[in-house]
Amino acid sequence: MKKLLLALSVFLVSGATAEAGTWETTCAGCHNGVVAPSKETLLKKFKTKREFMAAVRKAVQSGKMPRGLGFGRAAMELYGGAKKFSSFHKVSAVKSSSVATSSSDPYAKYKKFFTPLPALPPIPADNTLTPEKVRLGKMLYYDPRLSRSKLISCNTCHNLSIGGDDNQKTSLGDHWRTGGRNAPTTLNSGFLRVQFWDGRAPTLEEQAKGPLQAHVEMNSTPKIVVRRLKAIPEYVKLFKKAFPGEKDPVNFENVVKAIASFERTLNTPNSPFQRYLLGDSNALTKEQKEGMKLFVKYGCIACHSGPVFSDGQFHKFKWNNDLGRYRVTKNPKDKYMFRTPQLLNVAITAPYFHDGSVNSLEEAVKIMAQKELGKKLSNEEAKKIADFLRSLTGEVPLEARVLPQLPGNNPE
Ligand code: HEC
Ligand code: HEC
Ligand code: HEC
Repeated sequence: MKKLLLALSVFLVSGATAEAGTWETTCAGCHNGVVAPSKETLLKKFKTKREFMAAVRKAVQSGKMPRGLGFGRAAMELYGGAKKFSSFHKVSAVKSSSVATSSSDPYAKYKKFFTPLPALPPIPADNTLTPEKVRLGKMLYYDPRLSRSKLISCNTCHNLSIGGDDNQKTSLGDHWRTGGRNAPTTLNSGFLRVQFWDGRAPTLEEQAKGPLQAHVEMNSTPKIVVRRLKAIPEYVKLFKKAFPGEKDPVNFENVVKAIASFERTLNTPNSPFQRYLLGDSNALTKEQKEGMKLFVKYGCIACHSGPVFSDGQFHKFKWNNDLGRYRVTKNPKDKYMFRTPQLLNVAITAPYFHDGSVNSLEEAVKIMAQKELGKKLSNEEAKKIADFLRSLTGEVPLEARVLPQLPGNNPE
């Protein structure tokens, strides 16, 4: 979490001058009119500093915004006046690693093992997040004309209306061929340290180059993609807007930059568990709290840690003849090693494991306990943990789910 916030503030600060205020350095990056309302919109909506701070508090409590960013200072810059926010600071400016605890909830002590989901993942310095890129990236994500057959889009296998995956064992791609692996969700994927089950892509940008070209997925080439996009005048305009000042903005690098930017907005805040972490002790059932306790006690948390429940590391999971990480590194030590997948929204992304071979979440939990921790769970324990995992289902941003209007017909 600290690392994420650091990366986030580095990104936010890098776009501002040295004497710029808190708003410019800390808030404006997210409050750009896409991720969150712009300064103008906020000033129109909240007439006084008081109303503004009340809204800040609400947004922080609901997990839409990280804590302790210097809201009071920003409010003073926007509304002027003396600093009167010390009482608020005491409540909200807690360290990012600690979360609200309540004495009436005996399970509250387990909260410290978890990290609330920040509003945004780290943004790389060479691909700043702008509304124009997100808008273009969304269209590209949904556009089947990027595939050779013009039938398959990213959304075919990562359907944002059903959890960011396809609920298939293994995905069907070009000519209905299958790649032998289960499609993970694109939701919250910006928080993963490496992409793919075997971690073969370091970033979302590099990741997106894979499916576009894989013959079992979209079976396209950079040349086809660029040629088709250049033939659609509306797209040329949108690329110019998203990559201002570039001579030839319709190129393959920019295609994947735009798609990655869109993916970084596909985060799912406001799950019952997120609300619980942020202070609503009634957001989980007793069963789910029991499950949370077992998740910590039995050591699931050793690998499924951080804001999306993945340590980003590789662990041995010998399951079938898929050699996992070894296929990338050819290092014998990496045989059967797989990157820990995230667990957010896991209730709606069945079937499970890299080959999609397990349908029931309870069953997946039992297999994990057995293979990764050498523990045999009772049915009751597995059910409690699965119930806890069901509390990790958040809200997919509506804007991402509404189908975009795709421009013009391809004259090809
Ligand atoms: C990591 C991204 C991020 C950062 C950084 C951030 N915000 Fe936010 N903020 C959000 C999101 C997301 C919302 C919720 C927007 C929504 O759903 O209406 C929000 C909501 C708000 C709201 C309430 C808006 C409303 O309509 O209710 C205010 C006020 C606000 N932020 C002020 C600030 C200030 C001041 C700063 C800087 C000190 C800041 N924010 C930094 C993401 C961020
Ligand atoms: C034919 C189905 C299919 C299509 C089309 C497809 N994907 Fe995937 N996607 C998969 C499968 C299967 C995997 C896992 C492959 C692996 O790990 O070896 C995957 C993995 C990913 C991941 C990694 C997530 C993680 O947890 O590691 C991301 C991100 C992703 N795809 C985004 C995209 C984008 C963006 C597009 C469009 C440019 C796209 N996918 C098109 C099936 C598909
Ligand atoms: C040593 C690290 C480690 C531990 C401990 C661990 N896991 Fe996992 N978990 C993984 C890895 C790696 C995978 C991916 C396996 C694969 O290749 O399909 C995984 C996959 C899963 C999946 C399937 C996710 C999906 O989308 O397919 C679930 C559910 C899960 N783990 C839950 C748990 C639970 C519950 C525990 C504790 C009982 C636990 N894990 C303990 C590393 C671990």
